Order: sequence, then C-alpha cells, then structure tokens
Amino acid sequence: MENEVLRCIKGRRSIRNYESNEIPKEIMEEIITAGRYAPSAENRQPWKFIVVTNREEIKRLSEETKKQIGKILKQRRKWKRKYRELNDEQTLMFLRAVAFSENDTIFHDAPAVVFILTDDEIFNDESCACAAQNMMLAAHSMGIGSCWIGFAKFIENSEMMKEAGMPERHHISACLTLGYAKSISKASPRKPTSDVIKWIG
Ligand SMILES: Cc1cc2nc3c(=O)[nH]c(=O)nc-3n(C[C@H](O)[C@H](O)[C@H](O)COP(=O)(O)O)c2cc1C
Repeated sequence: MENEVLRCIKGRRSIRNYESNEIPKEIMEEIITAGRYAPSAENRQPWKFIVVTNREEIKRLSEETKKQIGKILKQRRKWKRKYRELNDEQTLMFLRAVAFSENDTIFHDAPAVVFILTDDEIFNDESCACAAQNMMLAAHSMGIGSCWIGFAKFIENSEMMKEAGMPERHHISACLTLGYAKSISKASPRKPTSDVIKWIG
C-alpha cells in the first residue's frame, strides 16, 4: 500500500551532511507546530523547544558535547554501570572518534538544532519522542533533512544549556538537527517483519 504519509515515513533518512543555507523561520515554526500536534500523555504537552540557529553557538554546543563524551571515556570505570556500551571495544573506538575529532561530529554542521526539553513526570519522554518524530516527518515532507542527536543528552547538565534557557528540573528528551541535505545516505536496512512481530490471532 502507498500513500503520502507512508511515502514520507519510508522515505525519511537521517541526514548528516547539510547545505549551509538557513531554513526560513516560518518553515521552522511549521516543523515545531507538527511537534506540538503530537499525542501526549493526558494531553500534558510537556515539551519546551529551544531552537538554535546561531552557527557559533551550535559549534560551542558541539565542542561541549565532545568534551563531555571525552570525560566519560576518561572515567570509564565510573560510568560503566550506567552505560554498559562502554564495555564494548567497537563502541569505545566510535566514541573516541566522535570526541576527539576536529569536525562537528555531533550536530554535523547543521544550520539549526532543536532541543526538546521536559521534566521527569511519567510518560513525558514518550510524549516528547512522538513530538520529535512528527517534526522529522514534517521536515521531510517539506524537503528538509533531520537527524535525532542522542549525543546531545551529555550536555543536559551543562552551564551552556542553563544559559540557553533550559528550565529548572528539565532534561533533554530529544534533540534534532535540521537543514537542507547536501547528500542523502542510503537507506538503513530494517529488520524483517518476521523478526519483530509476533501475531496472536
Ligand atoms: C534515540 C536516537 C538517538 C540517535 N542519536 C544519534 C546521534 O547522536 N548521532 C547521529 O548521527 N544519529 C543518531 N541517531 C540516528 C540513527 O542513527 C538513525 O535513525 C538510524 O541509524 C536509522 O537510520 P535512518 O534514520 O536513516 O532510518 C539517533 C536516533 C535515535 C532514534
């Protein structure tokens, strides 16, 4: 079966290579509106959005994230219980490459970064994930690429995020880069349905 929504869902890719041109503000607002229309537990709409389009600021946030990843790598023993991935040599190599690169390995030189913030109430993160996916699909439908940046979580307790206006007792629930794609990577394969669905007829 094919229709516009299904094509949008299946055609979206994580974009990690962006053109330098900015996204017009009204389009950014439309993308955020798509997020605001997401379902949320008890219709709490527990999200706050911080939109960063200042290149210098994005660069600084990227450097701060890399610094935090570098710290975790240095104090691996302490973090191993929280992040079991730190026991895996391949993950460690990847994290080292991210943390010690000169390039923007975090936000991929995107012209816009959106932080979706929430507090600890039950189901708020799930609601924010719905908002983030709505935004990525809305962006794709308007010819704009996006990527969810999980690494951004490492700066949720930083001074920089406080200065950026992160409210008290909030954390980064999701973070998206947005921009016009310079190149589109090939589709990431999906597991076969037989591996992930159990039918109870
Ligand atoms: C929770 C979450 C965290 C992610 N974190 C990152 C990240 O930090 N950096 C990145 O480049 N991609 C990140 N991604 C993108 C995934 O790598 C990507 O969605 C996956 O490989 C499937 O590819 P696709 O989005 O093109 O279908 C993240 C995706 C999700 C859902």
